Amino acid sequence: MNVHEIISEANLAPSVHNTQPTCWQVDGNGLILSLNNHRLLDVADPQARDARLSMGTALLGTWIAASRQGFGVKGIDHDRHRIRLELVADNSTPIWEHDTVMARTTFREGFASLPKSSLSGISTRIDTSITDTPAMIRSIAELNDSTSHGIMRDKAFRAELRRWMRLSKRHANWSRDGMNANALGLSRLEAIGASRVLSTPVFECLDKLGVAAKLTGEFSKTCTSHYVIAFHRPEGEDPLDSGVAFYELWLELTQCKQAVWPMAALADDPDARKQVEDWFDVPAGRQLINVLRVGPLPKSARSKTRLPVNELLIQ
Ligand SMILES: Cc1cc2nc3c(=O)[nH]c(=O)nc-3n(C[C@H](O)[C@H](O)[C@H](O)COP(=O)(O)O)c2cc1C
Repeated sequence: MNVHEIISEANLAPSVHNTQPTCWQVDGNGLILSLNNHRLLDVADPQARDARLSMGTALLGTWIAASRQGFGVKGIDHDRHRIRLELVADNSTPIWEHDTVMARTTFREGFASLPKSSLSGISTRIDTSITDTPAMIRSIAELNDSTSHGIMRDKAFRAELRRWMRLSKRHANWSRDGMNANALGLSRLEAIGASRVLSTPVFECLDKLGVAAKLTGEFSKTCTSHYVIAFHRPEGEDPLDSGVAFYELWLELTQCKQAVWPMAALADDPDARKQVEDWFDVPAGRQLINVLRVGPLPKSARSKTRLPVNELLIQ
């Protein structure tokens, strides 16, 4: 078993702010996944819920990567802090193609106006509700901007967000973690502007002038979405399991040649969540996990910004 290759592929899974909070350890014939407490978002994610969702995506990532090397998962034990995967030789076909794992991406620009792809496989999933109605997408775009603006008013939130943004190529972590200007879909000039707008007290001054919301808003880009998907899971489900399903859905969308741009704010804010659940008729007993803008994959794939394996592997 090539552990380095497994971790390298597993860590291509999406994580909140690209924090890559999961680390791996070899344990006999298994692997232990745990959360790195130094890579959590104290302000945006005080309960480490998004971190556990991200650990769920890394768990499926590990499973996929192990299957590529001829290993299956025989059992999973987990508690709040660690997950142990028992691996056994198994020569069945890998669960996802490497190309699909590589092509999966967060795309934060306007989507191309191409004919819509069919999402037929995805619409049969019990955990998705989908719209492609322009009026509904506009309402969601407005709600996303107003909700995000409310969250951005918290200066501690903005400071933490800025710590995970890499707005200049000179940033030491530009190609290691967080969200760099390319991933954020920002030109050099826009990146300089974003850094200023989010800083304190500039944001507060712009807010008083009534222009902060316009400058941080994503309305017109959101309106280019071909689809918006409400992703919901059973109420009370462990976010680890929701994270596994989240990555699986994202890979399915990639197979349909679709990129994704999440709007977690709409699931995190209680009023917005209620509104979205109403609009999508989310069935009772289910909780909204995220809301996804969906549109065609960009023509050229961006390189993935990830930590080297030696920093993810506990010896
Ligand atoms: C639980 C979770 C929540 C996320 N929420 C957002 C979000 O609200 N906005 C956003 O732009 N990206 C969001 N993302 C996407 C991550 O920022 C993205 O996966 C990460 O930057 C790595 O980039 P990649 O997906 O292109 O590999 C989220 C990802 C996860 C796992």
